[in-house]
Amino acid sequence: MKIAVLPGDGIGPEIVAQAVKVLDVLRAEGAKIEMETAPIGGAGYDAAGDPLPDATLKLARAADAVLLGAVGGPQYDALDRPLRPERGLLRIRKELNLFANLRPALLYPELASASSLKPDVVSGLDLMIVRELTGDVYFGQPRGIEVRNGERVGFNTMLYSESEVRRVAHVAFGIAMKRGRKLCSVEKANVLECSELWKEVMIEVSKDYPEVELSHMYVDNAAMQLIRAPKQFDTMVTGNIFGDILSDAASMLSGSIGMLPSASLDENNKGMYEPIHGSAPDIAGKNMANPLATILSVAMMYRYTLADLATADRIENAVKKVISQGYRTSDIWTDGTQKVSCSEMGDAVVKAI
Ligand code: IPM
Ligand code: MG
Repeated sequence: MKIAVLPGDGIGPEIVAQAVKVLDVLRAEGAKIEMETAPIGGAGYDAAGDPLPDATLKLARAADAVLLGAVGGPQYDALDRPLRPERGLLRIRKELNLFANLRPALLYPELASASSLKPDVVSGLDLMIVRELTGDVYFGQPRGIEVRNGERVGFNTMLYSESEVRRVAHVAFGIAMKRGRKLCSVEKANVLECSELWKEVMIEVSKDYPEVELSHMYVDNAAMQLIRAPKQFDTMVTGNIFGDILSDAASMLSGSIGMLPSASLDENNKGMYEPIHGSAPDIAGKNMANPLATILSVAMMYRYTLADLATADRIENAVKKVISQGYRTSDIWTDGTQKVSCSEMGDAVVKAI
């Protein structure tokens, strides 16, 4: 397996280094893994004047899977929009056609007290958010800022074609089939035509999956229900912008955004794997970030791109083990547990594997 390793900015290099340690263990055991590193985001801009340098895109295209850290940092905020780190991330998603973004939110029982919600609200939580990743208001044209009637207006276009909705619907129904067979489609069909079409297509596709119970929810209500009673959800499917927002909210149910991995897949299960959190410039370089989301992203790589479920389970079990042993980075630390650094957490997982 060829893996393109794109550490990116901020804490990206520190957390990716821990995930690479895990891959190194598997390689030492005989797994055929080739890794090559390239810059993206601010690091891409610094190296080649482009947040997605051509060489990085080429490497990612040639790879079976991409492991990404995070992009962005305050030093890049003043750059022209096309040069900003986030643009590199959005472009690689689009260029590789990674339209299905899987964001699981799972609560490890020992972390119930690290969540800002009451333990009984979140304990046992196991939710999968399927976020469409290459359409919607993120990419719709026209977009821009221009002068109309003597003042500036900013505008974007929320747009989904039925084929875009259909393909992510099939992924979501497929995942729901392997889970609790309950799929909640989230939109804003009471206001937006784009959502009206989304809902219609979801209902059409549901005919192919009679065993899955499909429900519909407006996004404002979904935001409330996620906080009120998150365990009512099994699998959720939603558009790009709603999924961006809801997945951050869902991350807090699991104790820390530092715990949540993600997979972004194309039609053939080629994937990019990254933690859902950002580059956390405030703690970058301090060896205190939580590497577990990135390590769990490697588990997702084994599950979805390699279809090697045994290794995926093994990595996930190693993470469960270090949590039950009481190791905590500062974001999930509570009284009575052992505070460890980013690299110590990586070492603990390696040992547990
Ligand atoms: C995410 C991030 C990105 C997004 C940003 C960094 C462009 O928030 O992966 O959720 O909005 O998709
Ligand atoms: Mg986000």
